[in-house]
Amino acid sequence: MSTVIINNINEIKNIVKEWKNNNYVIALVPTMGALHEGHASLIKRAKETCDKVIVSVFVNPIQFGHNEDFDKYPRTLDNDKKLCDELGADIIFAPTPKEMYGENNKLNNTDLTFVCPPYSLVDCLCGKSRPGHFDGVATVVLKLFNITNADFAFFGQKDAQQLFIIKKMVKDLNLNINIIPCPIVREPDGLALSSRNSYLSREERAWALSISKAIKQIDTLFNQGINDTNILFDSALSVLNKNLEIEYIEFRDFETFEKVKSAKENTLAAIAVKSGKTRLIDNTIL
Ligand code: PAJ
Repeated sequence: MSTVIINNINEIKNIVKEWKNNNYVIALVPTMGALHEGHASLIKRAKETCDKVIVSVFVNPIQFGHNEDFDKYPRTLDNDKKLCDELGADIIFAPTPKEMYGENNKLNNTDLTFVCPPYSLVDCLCGKSRPGHFDGVATVVLKLFNITNADFAFFGQKDAQQLFIIKKMVKDLNLNINIIPCPIVREPDGLALSSRNSYLSREERAWALSISKAIKQIDTLFNQGINDTNILFDSALSVLNKNLEIEYIEFRDFETFEKVKSAKENTLAAIAVKSGKTRLIDNTIL
C-alpha cells in the first residue's frame, strides 16, 4: 500500500482514533522533509517497532529566525512520498502553516501558546545563535504528539540538543510517549547527512568533510584515554578546515547537559560551523 498524504488535522485525528480502537501501536517520525537516508533510518526503525507509521513533513515557520533559511528550505514532497512508499510508512502528515497555526502563522507569532524549555538548555550550543529556535521546536513537536497520539517518536542523535530538549519536555510535562534516539547516518566519506547539505558548493562540501574528521579525532583520543576537554578541543580545532567559521566545539554531560572539563562515558562532544553560508552540526556521544 502506498503512503497517504494528509494535510488536515481533523482527518488524521479520525484515522488515529480508528487505529487506537484497533489497539495499533503508532509511531511518529517528525521531519521537515527533503528526506534523506538519515530520515529513512528513523522511518525503518519506526516500522520495526510499531504497527502504524506517521511521518510528518512540515517546515515549521516558528523555529526559524528572521535571517534564516525558511523560504529557501528545500521542499520535495513528491520525492519524500516516494521514499515513504518504499519504506512502507502509512501516512505523511504535511499540514500548511495555516493549518497548524491559523492566520498568525508567521515567524514572529505572538498569539500562540509556546512551550519554553529551560533556559539552561536553550541558551547554549545551537540555541545561542538561534534565539527562540528550541521554543519553536518544542511547540511544534508537542502539537504533533497531540495530533497523532503516537506511542513512540523517533529522533536522530544528529540534533543532540533537540533530542535532549524533547526528552526533557516529555518528562516535565508527563507526556505518554516513548522517545527513541537513533544514530547519526553519514555519507561514505563521513559527512553527516542533512537536508542543508544541498546548499553546499563542491568546495564548501570539501571543507565540511573536516567536521566528521574532527568528531572522529575526539572519539579516537578519548578511546586512547584522553579525557581533558581542553586537549580534545584543541585537537578537534586543529583538524577543522581553516575556511570553516567555527561556532562552537563543546563537551556536555548527556545526562545533565552541564559542561564537562573531563570527558567520560555519555559525554556529548558537539561541533557547529558554517561552511560558506551553510550552518552544519555534528557530534558524538563518547
Ligand atoms: P529535520 O531536520 O528534518 O530532522 C528530522 C529528524 O531526522 C530529526 O530527529 C533529526 O535528528 C533526524 N536526522 C536528520 N539528519 C540525520 C542523520 N544524518 N542521521 C540520523 N538522523 C538524522 O529536526 C527537525 O527536522 C525539526 O526540528 C523537527 C523535529 C521536525 C521539528 O520541526
